[in-house]
Amino acid sequence: MPLANTSARYGGVAMTLHWLIAGALIVNIGLGLYMSEVLSDGDVSRLAILQLHKSVGLTVLLLSVARLSWRLVNPVPPLPESMPPALRIAARASHVFLYFLIVAIPLTGWALVSSSRTAAPTFYFGIFHWPTISFLAQLPRAEKIPLHRGFGFVHVTLAWSAIALVPLHVFGALYHHWRGDDVLRRMLPGTGIAG
Ligand code: HEM
Ligand code: HEM
Repeated sequence: MPLANTSARYGGVAMTLHWLIAGALIVNIGLGLYMSEVLSDGDVSRLAILQLHKSVGLTVLLLSVARLSWRLVNPVPPLPESMPPALRIAARASHVFLYFLIVAIPLTGWALVSSSRTAAPTFYFGIFHWPTISFLAQLPRAEKIPLHRGFGFVHVTLAWSAIALVPLHVFGALYHHWRGDDVLRRMLPGTGIAG
C-alpha cells in the first residue's frame, strides 16, 4: 500500500491519521460526557480523568494539524463520477466541517483551561507540563470570567456538533458501501484497491 494518496485510494499516512483521530475523538467525547454527566463535582477520579481528557484532546489537535498539512501537499482521491452533484456537495461540506471540528474542539478546550481562574496545570500524559495560551492566562481575573464561560459554551456546542455529525458521516460511508462503490474500501487498509 502506498504512503501517499493516489487517484484510486487514500495512502497509509492519510488513513493512519484518519483512524487515529476518529478513535481519539470518540474516546474523548466519552470522557467529556462521563466527566460532566456521570461524575459528581467532588468525585476523586475527576482530576485524573480531566488530565486524560486534556491529553487525548491535545493529541487530536496535533494529529489534525499534521493531517491538514499532509492534505495540502497530497490531494485526496476524487469522489466517484456516478455520485449525484448534491451528494458530492454534501460530502465535501461535511468533510470541511469535520476538519473544522477536529481543530476547533481541542483549541476551545485549550482556551477554556487557559482562561480558568484556578489555572490548574495540564500534564500531557504525565510526561510534561503543557503550556497555557499565555495571553489568555495573563488576563485579569474579571476579564477571564466571561471568556471562560464563552469558551466552555463553544467547546460543548462544538462537541455536540461532532456527536451529531459523526453518525451521519458513518452512515454516508456505509451508504457508499451498499451502493457498491470503493469510497469506504479506499479508506481501509488491505482492501485490494491498487494504488
Ligand atoms: C477531541 C477533542 C475534545 C473533545 C471531543 C472534547 C469533548 C468534550 C465534552 C463532550 C465535554 C463535556 C461537555 C458537557 O458539559 O456536556 C468536554 C468538557 C471539557 N473539556 Fe473537552 N474535548 C476535547 C478536547 C479538550 C481539550 C484539548 C481540553 C483542554 C486542554 C478540554 C477541556 C475540557 C474541560 C475543562 C471540560 C469541562 C470538564 C468539566 O466538566 O469540568 N477538552 N469536552
Ligand atoms: C469519528 C470521527 C471521524 C472524523 C473526524 C472523520 C473525518 C473525516 C474527514 C475529514 C474525511 C475527509 C477526508 C478527505 O477527503 O480529506 C473523512 C473521510 C472518510 N471517512 Fe471519516 N471521520 C471519522 C470517522 C469515520 C468512521 C467511523 C468511518 C467508517 C465508517 C469513516 C469513514 C470515512 C471514509 C470512508 C472516508 C472517505 C470519504 C471519501 O473518500 O470521500 N470515518 N473522514
